[in-house]
Amino acid sequence: MLFNAPALIFAGVALTSLVAASPVNLATRDLKNYVTDITIHESCNSTQRRMLEQAFADTFEVATSAHEYIRTNGPTDPVFEKYYGTKPAAFSAALGVWDALLYSNKDGVIFRCDNPDGNCGQPGWRGHWRGDNATSETVICDLSYTDRLYNQAFCMYGNTVAGSPLGTYWSIDLIHRLFHVPQVTNGQVDHYAEDYASVLELAEHNSTYSPFDSDAHQAFAAHVYAVEVAKGGDACVGQAAEAHDHDHTAATSSAAPAAATTAAAATSAAAAAPAATSAAASQDCHTHSDGTVHCV
Ligand SMILES: *[C@@H]1O[C@H](CO)[C@@H](O)[C@H](O)[C@H]1NC(C)=O
Ligand SMILES: *[C@@H]1O[C@H](CO)[C@@H](O)[C@H](O)[C@H]1NC(C)=O
Ligand SMILES: *[C@@H]1O[C@H](CO)[C@@H](O)[C@H](O)[C@H]1NC(C)=O
Repeated sequence: MLFNAPALIFAGVALTSLVAASPVNLATRDLKNYVTDITIHESCNSTQRRMLEQAFADTFEVATSAHEYIRTNGPTDPVFEKYYGTKPAAFSAALGVWDALLYSNKDGVIFRCDNPDGNCGQPGWRGHWRGDNATSETVICDLSYTDRLYNQAFCMYGNTVAGSPLGTYWSIDLIHRLFHVPQVTNGQVDHYAEDYASVLELAEHNSTYSPFDSDAHQAFAAHVYAVEVAKGGDACVGQAAEAHDHDHTAATSSAAPAAATTAAAATSAAAAAPAATSAAASQDCHTHSDGTVHCV
């Protein structure tokens, strides 16, 4: 090998003289300050901070599993197709959204615990994006701390991906809230579907927007986490309620989410009911850039 050395040195000299001969700009690239972590505002007390730190750790765990799942299994995976459809563009679009959520610059992305816009007083509000008042800020209201579940509790208490509100878990709720912050995905993720059933509908019949639909990403991530990490299997995924079933009778709507929303329960009215009741119990509102308030 040694006899190769002179040639290498010669090549090096040649390269050096070439470089010296042309006007090369040696200035370093003008990189912005890159921040990996979301800032928890000083208005959060020590308990809120500890809970939010855990919630963000959960968020990144779920987002990482979604990202890895797509990257590894590719666009023909049945779970991928279930939420994102089969259009050729879906793979890199969905992968890019998760990549942006995880790795885009979080400089200035702030979550706070005070109530600067006065919205937390409204019944059921658990938090909101500050919209035009501060586009990179999100407020988490006191109600969020009472019953959002951490990742360890995935698939517990009869919760299913299809039958429980996506915001049941801190991780999925914060993924949703991060999608509202324009800098995280350059404002590309929005609300096209409105619930689990319409996510599946969108993916099956009209999937152009699926890789940019907030709920599609939330549901996909919950599904992957429920099966791959929580090991909850099909019982934890559950079945979608009928897309346009508004027939929630009093008799069924008071039922707690079934411990096992099995395939057998799939098409029954009972399967639809938990989604309706729990959604009301954990109402989750946010304001869009056009000023409209969206509660799910
Ligand atoms: C933090 O704030 C919450 C909500 O206002 C309150 O219930 C809790 O006691 C506070 N914790 C500390 C350590 O001050
Ligand atoms: C912005 O602030 C105004 C005035 O405080 C408030 O009425 C409005 O609801 C706030 N917007 C959001 C999205 O919270
Ligand atoms: C497809 O989805 C988009 C976005 O939600 C919607 O604007 C459009 O009307 C849908 N098209 C059909 C045929 O459902």
